[in-house]
Amino acid sequence: MTARVTPPICDYEGSDYQQTFWDTGKRKYEDQVEAIALKRLLPEKGDLLLEIGAGAGRNTPRYQGYSKIVLLDYSLSQLQLAQSRLGRNQRFIYVVGDAYRLPFGAGIFDAATMIRTLHHLQDAPLAIQEARRVLRQGGFFILEYANKHNLKAILRYGLGKQAWNPFDESPIEFAELNFDFHPQSICHWLETTGFKVQRQLTVSHFRLNLLKKIIPTSWLVGMDSLAQWTGDWWQLSPSVFLRAEAIGESPIQSQSVIFACPQCGSSSFVESENALKCQGCGRIWEIRDGIYIFK
Ligand SMILES: C[S@@+](CC[C@H](N)C(=O)[O-])C[C@H]1O[C@@H](n2cnc3c(N)ncnc32)[C@H](O)[C@@H]1O
Repeated sequence: MTARVTPPICDYEGSDYQQTFWDTGKRKYEDQVEAIALKRLLPEKGDLLLEIGAGAGRNTPRYQGYSKIVLLDYSLSQLQLAQSRLGRNQRFIYVVGDAYRLPFGAGIFDAATMIRTLHHLQDAPLAIQEARRVLRQGGFFILEYANKHNLKAILRYGLGKQAWNPFDESPIEFAELNFDFHPQSICHWLETTGFKVQRQLTVSHFRLNLLKKIIPTSWLVGMDSLAQWTGDWWQLSPSVFLRAEAIGESPIQSQSVIFACPQCGSSSFVESENALKCQGCGRIWEIRDGIYIFK
């Protein structure tokens, strides 16, 4: 494997995202409806699960039935926060790395999730291809994406209040490194990469400040929970969750070897307390307080 040039990254290093957006940001509704969608889509049990763009581990406690969970994020500080919230134990492996060049061997994961992360990726097909590479045949990918074809965007476009066309299938970068995607493109990318889309759930239908102010959260969550089931027929919500199955051949790998060098592809390492030394290219990857750093 030769080193590839990858697209720019939306860097969360030092960000207070978890605290300001989730903990104090009045997003109980969004958090709860996402939990419902995740529960509906993710197979209950499995051995090894990869969380791509795990951030501070908001969703990690929801993977109860998995023996081992690998939290992958580009930001060390997000993973340090995740580690302080979830603890340092055998069940969690914290890995700093890039979704475009996952530092893992092919075909090793039973499931992978990517929630609120694709919307920062300029080259979404490349990240989807990487997710497929590391999943075993028959493994599942739970993907959340920001939907450009949502009701609010359609209305705004119809009223002439928004320049970009929500029916156009190309992604829209509405702020730097923030993208909304068209459902058709997402399904197309998945299906040309070795995935079969099995189920789609539309999520966060009532994500409007006025509604959140005047209607109790539990009612909104209940209504959203029902509306989610329409996701296979039409996608008009700002967020879509889907489950795709990895089809076609995947290399059969031993799960005892999780890592592959993102620089040369070798999965042969010598591990010391503070580092992994790649036997393929000699590159030394740091391990800091139990967090593997592949960048
Ligand atoms: C909006 S946060 C979502 C965090 C978490 N999934 C959640 O839902 O709470 C997006 C996360 O994606 C990570 N990220 C962005 N680009 C990435 C990349 N190329 N590789 C790995 N992680 C990335 C950021 O560091 C950040 O933690």
